[in-house]
Amino acid sequence: MDARKAIESLTVLTDMVLPSETNPLNNLFGGELLARMDRAASISARRHSRRIVVTASVNHVAFNKSVPLGSVVTVEAKVSRAFKTSMEVFMDVWVEDRESGIKTKANEAIYTFVAVDETGQPVRIPELVPETELEISRFKGALRRKQLSLVLAGKMKPSEATELRALFME
Ligand SMILES: CC(C)(COP(=O)(O)OP(=O)(O)OC[C@H]1O[C@@H](n2cnc3c(N)ncnc32)[C@H](O)[C@@H]1OP(=O)(O)O)[C@@H](O)C(=O)NCCC(=O)NCCS
Repeated sequence: MDARKAIESLTVLTDMVLPSETNPLNNLFGGELLARMDRAASISARRHSRRIVVTASVNHVAFNKSVPLGSVVTVEAKVSRAFKTSMEVFMDVWVEDRESGIKTKANEAIYTFVAVDETGQPVRIPELVPETELEISRFKGALRRKQLSLVLAGKMKPSEATELRALFME
């Protein structure tokens, strides 16, 4: 299976914030943003694996800035690392100022997807090649985050999480 570059999985989803998608403060409802990120990340994971993909875990979401009604929101998703059957997808969320057109980073998220066959069984995926400095740094941290997610899900014993333990020994 040929390795694929991280850039090949880049997915950019741009959409507006409508009144039905806001909370009582007229800001984007968190669950709506989670759904948009899930959609962008799943396309990204599909582009890398060229398989059916399912969301295995939402590893991290930081709602750093509220997103007002009427905003133009862009979700940029890219696979940061591929393991055997699972992939980590990193997302950056940008909000565009109407007058200046300047994009400000509002949120960040990390999801894990698993490639599966028609019966839902996990299948092997190609390796991912990071190229830019940011892609390399996200690639390097991905194993640690995978272990943390597995420990939190009760699928790995903390004593087996070698990368995580190394982090606390630094
Ligand atoms: C995701 C799913 C396919 C994993 O199945 P499983 O029986 O746990 O399979 P495995 O134990 O072989 O794990 C498959 C891969 O997922 C990874 N994985 C499983 N749970 C994970 C978690 N919580 N965090 C990170 N990675 C996880 C495993 O480490 C493994 O990765 P690798 O093969 O790259 O090393 C299965 O749990 C599933 O179908 N879940 C429902 C998915 C879904 O419907 N999502 C939408 C929710 S509405």
